[in-house]
Amino acid sequence: MGLFSVFTQEVAIDLGTANTLIIHNDKVIVDEPSIVAMDRTTSKIIAIGRKAQLMHGKVHDNIKTIRPLKDGVIADFQAAEHMIRGMIKMIKTGRFFQPSLRMVICIPSGITEVEKRAVIDSAEHAGGKEVYLIHEPMAAAIGIGVDVEEPMGNMVIDIGGGTSEIAVIALGGIVCDKSIRVAGDDFTSDIEEYMRRQHNILIGERTAEQIKIEVGSAIPDLDTPPDDYAVRGRDLMTGIPKEIYVSYQEISHALDKSITKIEDAILSALEMTPPELSADIYKTGIYLAGGGSMLRGLDKRISLKTKLPVHIAEDPLRAVARGTGIALKNLEKFQFLIKA
Ligand SMILES: Nc1ncnc2c1ncn2[C@@H]1O[C@H](COP(=O)(O)OP(=O)(O)O)[C@@H](O)[C@H]1O
Ligand SMILES: [Mg+2]
Repeated sequence: MGLFSVFTQEVAIDLGTANTLIIHNDKVIVDEPSIVAMDRTTSKIIAIGRKAQLMHGKVHDNIKTIRPLKDGVIADFQAAEHMIRGMIKMIKTGRFFQPSLRMVICIPSGITEVEKRAVIDSAEHAGGKEVYLIHEPMAAAIGIGVDVEEPMGNMVIDIGGGTSEIAVIALGGIVCDKSIRVAGDDFTSDIEEYMRRQHNILIGERTAEQIKIEVGSAIPDLDTPPDDYAVRGRDLMTGIPKEIYVSYQEISHALDKSITKIEDAILSALEMTPPELSADIYKTGIYLAGGGSMLRGLDKRISLKTKLPVHIAEDPLRAVARGTGIALKNLEKFQFLIKA
């Protein structure tokens, strides 16, 4: 280990609406929900990540939980800074002093200059001395294993918590992209709403997400269907807790509208794609990443709609972080990184 590395630590950060991941020494060492809990009276942060998530939806008047990112961008600067700082602290450096940090952080491609500045400021306040930014679709593509520098068009779709980002990448650049604010968290609220409307049962966000993971589906005819799932919540009529069973077909119906919006965005991105690159995509197909892409049958549904082959990244929740980590190791080589 050189002298340099004693004083400098390198970290790659995937700052997502739903989850924040930090890679250090090629390993994912932080993988936590992007959420903080704050004491309302003292304004002190009392928990971040998983601990704060356990409080979400169960808080009393003195505590509130905050998701500092909304729709892929920082919505609450102070909370975001606390969160980044707290998560960086989770890296146990085993040293007495705080090393200076070299960071690569991924940002949504549709981010404004002001929002970009906010990310950089938060990173610098959290100890970043040398900060680089990478556009999320680029990080996703690298994480999936696409050779982003070759003269070949590739379409990558990252379906996260708050946004779905669709991009065509070639020659180390984003040729066209489309970002819509419909993604995994909308699927969750669709389920909440459906349960209320259809079954007169009130459920919380965490239960709705659990339903999505256990019996969520993008299509009503899965080859390997999951069993019906027991849902517990409050009966709207009686106010008493009750239990009902839901099937994946029902959920596919509940999610149909949101998925159609994502499909429409994909079709419009394909329309915007220059013809030479369209020809490439016809051959290579579409790559999916992000937690939202894990919804059963979503790949099949997109494939039917676009008549293109669709591939899901290995470990979709970590593809962007993985790509950001690879970018960190190729700071000199990758011209598309933005230096703060
Ligand atoms: N098995 C799964 N099936 C469907 N959705 C999932 C699954 N696992 C996670 N998700 C969803 O993925 C989203 C988070 O994905 P992620 O890529 O971490 O988002 P972000 O980059 O915005 O933080 C959430 O909406 C979560 O509910
Ligand atoms: Mg993401």
